[in-house]
Amino acid sequence: VSGAPSRYTERVTSQRQILILLAHPTLERSRINRRLIDAVSDLKGVTVHDLYETYPALNINVRREQQMLLEHDVIVFQHPFYWYSTPAILKEWQDLVLEHGWAYGNNASALRGKITFNALTAAGTLDAYREGGANRYSIRQLIAPYELTARLCGMQFLAPFVVYGALAFSGPSEVVPYEKAYRSVLEGLRDNTLDVDAAARAKHLHGGPA
Ligand SMILES: Cc1cc2nc3c(=O)[nH]c(=O)nc-3n(C[C@H](O)[C@H](O)[C@H](O)COP(=O)(O)O)c2cc1C
Repeated sequence: VSGAPSRYTERVTSQRQILILLAHPTLERSRINRRLIDAVSDLKGVTVHDLYETYPALNINVRREQQMLLEHDVIVFQHPFYWYSTPAILKEWQDLVLEHGWAYGNNASALRGKITFNALTAAGTLDAYREGGANRYSIRQLIAPYELTARLCGMQFLAPFVVYGALAFSGPSEVVPYEKAYRSVLEGLRDNTLDVDAAARAKHLHGGPA
């Protein structure tokens, strides 16, 4: 997706700053998320924030998290899909950080105009995550709480970046196309060369075999 600037991007004159909130409780055993994060962590304008590393006891520092959000324009939630949802720390993060009067309500505007999306890996296949498939719903439908939370906070919600069939990868070389795609999505958002309105309407930012 590329092309015309949207109403969300008109005010952008310089590069967007991107914050990746990484939530993987056992990153040392990860085969996909670790490679994805390694593929983008050197990108200029990208900050990687490993939540389980920072808060192993889930004792989230709300002010620090809010400050980080203020300093970035794009907020990425990167995580494995756990029980059709996210690992627990992201729920705790939402419950504590997205305070009433700061993130939403009472004309709160801290996050207004920012862009957000989920970058996730799932064991299930694209064919399973559809109406009539084993998992009945698409990933985009299942992450509706993220979409509605973003909307309540005045953020623009983009389609998810999904790696399906994450347990069926035979080796690291199979992950490479996803590493490249993730990098190019982040570069496109950073440099404002990706059409965010089209990305908001899409089913995926990237999904299925590249
Ligand atoms: C506790 C737990 C719950 C999981 N729930 C789901 C699920 O609901 N749907 C799914 O497709 N995969 C599920 N999985 C599989 C993970 O999504 C998969 O292991 C992960 O995406 C692989 O990424 P990684 O190599 O970075 O760990 C689950 C895995 C664990 C450990």
